[in-house]
Amino acid sequence: MLDYDREADRYDDSRGGEARADEAARAVERLLPSGAGTVIDVGAGTGIVSTRLRRPGRVVVAVDRSSGMLTRAAGRLGGRVVRGDATRLPLRPGRADAVVSVWLLHLLSDAAPVVAEAARVLRPGGVLITTVDKEQSRLVSPSDLADLAAVPRREHGPAAADARERVTALAAASGLVPAGETTFVGVGQGRSPRELRGAPAGWLRELDLAALPDQDRRRPDPVYTLVAFRRTTSTASTGR
Ligand SMILES: C[S@@+](CC[C@H](N)C(=O)[O-])C[C@H]1O[C@@H](n2cnc3c(N)ncnc32)[C@H](O)[C@@H]1O
Repeated sequence: MLDYDREADRYDDSRGGEARADEAARAVERLLPSGAGTVIDVGAGTGIVSTRLRRPGRVVVAVDRSSGMLTRAAGRLGGRVVRGDATRLPLRPGRADAVVSVWLLHLLSDAAPVVAEAARVLRPGGVLITTVDKEQSRLVSPSDLADLAAVPRREHGPAAADARERVTALAAASGLVPAGETTFVGVGQGRSPRELRGAPAGWLRELDLAALPDQDRRRPDPVYTLVAFRRTTSTASTGR
């Protein structure tokens, strides 16, 4: 995984900046339960999305394991930042109205402990909201990039830690049922084949990007998927 302490200085600008964060926060808001008073943003990074979720009567807490990223988040959220790991949240069980993770699960080798931890800290009726299929989101159809990626996408997509089917199964095992979905545009994140060749990610490395025409023409901005899972009232808190 990328060293996010070192990435922190350039993170916001290189990930679509304020425009991307606006889109992401609006999408999260659409999936939040009405009246959500306690929102935990896990893998919050610089807090560029978390800060946009704040409302009167709602507390947003940013959790991240990178102190470099959290320093920026603290600049936005004040004291509402906690250094911690998504697999062992420093939070009491059954209190949160929502756990939000934008662009976290795809970084992990296994999303299981993160989904289980989210379920533990949610109150009955609370929701986990997370991105899924992140790497596939770059492949917006119709585009020659999506066509080129069709085969590796079929082969590798389902194996990603944030593969939607896998995350849905993990959620079910933790007593979380599907509760909606939406998308957001990664504004400003469309890349040209040449740019992608310079910083290939995941299984995009396998693509023969040099074979595409118009090497410097940026392809469409990615469209990311967010899904929500509600904790059923019958789920017993595991406590800790
Ligand atoms: C791609 S960034 C996303 C940041 C933010 N959610 C956003 O949308 O801008 C991923 C973040 O997850 C954090 N992270 C990765 N693994 C983590 C873990 N196991 N526990 C907590 N944070 C983690 C990284 O430090 C980084 O800040």
